[in-house]
Amino acid sequence: MRKLEEIAPGLTDRAAFVGQTGSGKTTLAQEVCRLRPWVVAFDPKGMLEWDGYERHERLSALTKAKAPRLIYRPVYEELADDETVDAFFEWVYERRNCVLYVDEVYAIAQGDSYPWFFGACLTRGRERGIATYIASQRPSRVPQVMLSESEHCYIFNLKLPQDRERMSDITGLEDTELNLPKHEFYYVPQVGDPVGPLKLSLGKSSGSSASLETPGRGRAEDRGEREALRA
Ligand SMILES: Nc1ncnc2c1ncn2[C@@H]1O[C@H](COP(=O)(O)OP(=O)(O)OP(=O)(O)O)[C@@H](O)[C@H]1O
Ligand SMILES: [Mg+2]
Repeated sequence: MRKLEEIAPGLTDRAAFVGQTGSGKTTLAQEVCRLRPWVVAFDPKGMLEWDGYERHERLSALTKAKAPRLIYRPVYEELADDETVDAFFEWVYERRNCVLYVDEVYAIAQGDSYPWFFGACLTRGRERGIATYIASQRPSRVPQVMLSESEHCYIFNLKLPQDRERMSDITGLEDTELNLPKHEFYYVPQVGDPVGPLKLSLGKSSGSSASLETPGRGRAEDRGEREALRA
């Protein structure tokens, strides 16, 4: 069994959670965000019911908030307005020192287009203490940079071939490995000591410190065994 801390992003690392609907992205992201004191979550789907977070539907109210953990669930007029969405990311960028979590990045970033300040948080957040985490059901439709720049990828089951292909290009996992049972995921770090792709699932017990189960055998173990057999 592993601890969540072992696979959690470093202070200003970026992370991507991808997988089809219901696969467990948001649940894992919530656990990872628990490890950080300052979090701003962008909730375009209106799905985040996270304990301990103050929720705001208007940017004008959000930007006055003092709580360390905030959710911005924009009302439709604000979500549909590119300038307001960009102003939200600008506020995060100027405010510094937090995790910025975007619960469905496709809502604000398609193809190669995304809010300017979102790009700033993603590519220049490190020096400002901002760690950007994104989640997406459709990795093939979000800008490649959002995934390729992430130091940590958490990949749940992907149904569509184009999504699997995108993630296998980025991580080196085989297409067939991305056919995963519900709530299981591959953790693929892109930096640091390569702990190899690990196949994991989040423990169901909702204690203070989440644990990880190793449901099947990870690719690293399989590869290790193949090499041992060959030797
Ligand atoms: N490890 C787990 N063990 C048991 N239940 C889980 C686990 N992970 C997630 N769930 C449950 O599965 C459901 C779907 O999880 P979650 O909302 O995290 O999926 P998602 O990938 O974010 O889906 P969507 O793309 O639709 O937002 C939730 O009810 C959640 O409580
Ligand atoms: Mg979700």
